Amino acid sequence: MRHIVLIGFMGSGKTKTGKRLAEEAGYAFIDVDKKITSEMKMSVTDIFNRFGEVFFRALETKTIKELRQMEKRAVISVGGGLPMQEQNHKYLKELGTIVYLKGSAETLQKRLEGDHSRPLLAGSNMEEKIRKMLQTREPVYEKLADVTVVTAQQPMKKLIREIHIKCEMFESQYLMKSNSHI
Ligand code: S3P
Repeated sequence: MRHIVLIGFMGSGKTKTGKRLAEEAGYAFIDVDKKITSEMKMSVTDIFNRFGEVFFRALETKTIKELRQMEKRAVISVGGGLPMQEQNHKYLKELGTIVYLKGSAETLQKRLEGDHSRPLLAGSNMEEKIRKMLQTREPVYEKLADVTVVTAQQPMKKLIREIHIKCEMFESQYLMKSNSHI
C-alpha cells in the first residue's frame, strides 16, 4: 500500500495539513508522535526526560517499520527529527510518496513561539536553535522528498490541492517506472 508521508521541521504544519489532506481524500490519518505517546501513555517531553532522546528515536523507527504493514491508505505525519536518522530513509520510502512541508525560518519561529511541547526547543534562544537545526535538517528533507510544497504562502485549501496534484504526478511517474521494469 502506498501512503502519503509528511516530513518537515517542527511547526511546519504536518499535523494540521495531514488531517485535512486525509479527510478530503478519505484516507486514515496517522501521526507518529501521537502513536508513540498514546502507546507509552507519556508526553514526548516526559519520554525524553525519563528515557532520553535515543530511546525516543528507537520508538520512532519501530513505529514506521510497523506502519509498513498497514492496509488502509493513510496520510502519515512524522516528527521533524525522524528523517535525520539515515536508517529511517528506507522505511519512509517504502511507506509511499514523501511530501516535504517547507517553511521559512521566520514562519517556523512565529508558529513555535511560546510552545513548550518540544524538548529540543526548550530553554532560552529558541530562534537560534531553530536557525541552526534548520541548516542541518533542510538539506536532508530536500534530498528525501519526492514532492516539496511551501507552507504559509497560501490558504490551506490551495495547499491541499497542490499536494494532491504533485502527489498524483509523482505517483504516475513512479508507476510508469516500476512497470517498465516488469
Ligand atoms: C522533534 C519533533 C517533534 C517530536 C520531538 C522531536 C524533532 O515532532 O517528534 O519533539 O526532533 O524535530 P513535530 O515535528 O511534529 O513537532
